[in-house]
Amino acid sequence: VVRAVSRRNLTAAKKILNKAFGSIELTENPLEVVRHPDIDIVVELIGGVETPKNLVLEAMAHGKHVVTANKALLAEHGNLLFATAQAQGLMLAFEAAIAGGIPIIKAVREGLSANHIHLIAGIVNGTTNFIMSEMRNKSIDFATALKQAQELGFAEADPSFDLDGTDATHKISLLSAMAFGIPIQFSKAYKEGISNISPIDIKYIETLGYRIKLLAITKRMDTGIELRVHPCLIPSECLLANVEGPMNAVLVQGDIVGSTMYYGQGAGGNPTASSVIADLIDVTRLHTVDPEHHVPHLAFQPKALNDIKVLPIEEVQTSYYLRLRVTNQIGVLATTAAILAEHQISIESVLQFEEDKTPIPHNTGEVDLVILTNYAQESMMNAAITKLQQLPSVCHKIVRIRKEELQD
Ligand SMILES: NC(=O)c1ccc[n+]([C@@H]2O[C@H](COP(=O)([O-])OP(=O)(O)OC[C@H]3O[C@@H](n4cnc5c(N)ncnc54)[C@H](OP(=O)(O)O)[C@@H]3O)[C@@H](O)[C@H]2O)c1
Repeated sequence: VVRAVSRRNLTAAKKILNKAFGSIELTENPLEVVRHPDIDIVVELIGGVETPKNLVLEAMAHGKHVVTANKALLAEHGNLLFATAQAQGLMLAFEAAIAGGIPIIKAVREGLSANHIHLIAGIVNGTTNFIMSEMRNKSIDFATALKQAQELGFAEADPSFDLDGTDATHKISLLSAMAFGIPIQFSKAYKEGISNISPIDIKYIETLGYRIKLLAITKRMDTGIELRVHPCLIPSECLLANVEGPMNAVLVQGDIVGSTMYYGQGAGGNPTASSVIADLIDVTRLHTVDPEHHVPHLAFQPKALNDIKVLPIEEVQTSYYLRLRVTNQIGVLATTAAILAEHQISIESVLQFEEDKTPIPHNTGEVDLVILTNYAQESMMNAAITKLQQLPSVCHKIVRIRKEELQD
């Protein structure tokens, strides 16, 4: 039974709320809801971080279970909020916070509990996936694709958190905690957005048999855990590469199950409501159960958490796409290969786009040298790029995009 609703501006919403719920209590002060003596479950869908943090803590202090869709809140303060819920024997459910309507939390936390998960890689931000799909399908630049996304309602008026990878980083930090039994480590994640991706690279990447996606990746390595969000080349035949427009998809690999994929709408009123209501049903079914038997919020019992370190990006090993715009002269390729070899980076393939054959024309006497490398350490790649950039034959800023040979 919906007992009370709080909204900042009730005048605009009164009619619709009364129509939906009949005569219920309406207030512009959310504290009246979280402290309400007749309310068992509080649903937080207001967004932001500090206000909902205080409201969720206040709700739990009053013995209420909480459902939220707020990934920013949980990525930043989840360790405190989940610990508080645990101490109070309360449920804090958040299925809508990651990939909207896809029940990915239930899948990772419960459906795959027999597995040691070793990789999660996902397209978890519909705005950036829409923009990159448009750039590829319509051969348009980033600014034009962003404008279209805003006109069609796939990007907010201020889309900075989507474009710079923050939103995807919130989500993968939560998934990483659930997959590997570590605290939520949003502040240690590496993030890089999509605003520097250019149509020319999209075209070259396509020629090479890859597509570029903003991927959120967390991986269990012998040395620690990788936690990163950045544009990434993936083979064009893999399922994730074919997730188009605003859709979301998450690949989860476990030791027993192998690869599993989850696909669906990652945002929007109905898909988000689907997950919020599933949480409400879960809490309603389980709230009388002994808290000892609740499903742990983040899949692992708090006492079973471990402190495996999150690897700094410099220690991550991946392969790379490099594009060097160079003067068209003998010896440039040999010098480039020698510098890469000096840094223990081996070349997988090289493509030189001749002046008259490049998809996008450039200055006379310059050609694009595109290199795919094998696995290399990020710190070595950084050093190699610094050295390559100093060569007189390299005319522009070198483009570097990471690459993953995902097996889905
Ligand atoms: N939209 C999606 O597709 C989606 C998907 C997954 C998760 N989420 C998460 O869901 C949350 C909400 O997102 P949204 O897109 O629905 O945002 P939104 O359209 O801005 O809606 C926020 C609502 O919260 C109300 N509100 C804000 N501050 C309030 C306060 N202090 N007291 C009472 N009411 C307050 C607003 O009321 P007024 O309009 O009266 O100001 C508005 O109705 C965010 O955490 C977001 O990350 C959204």
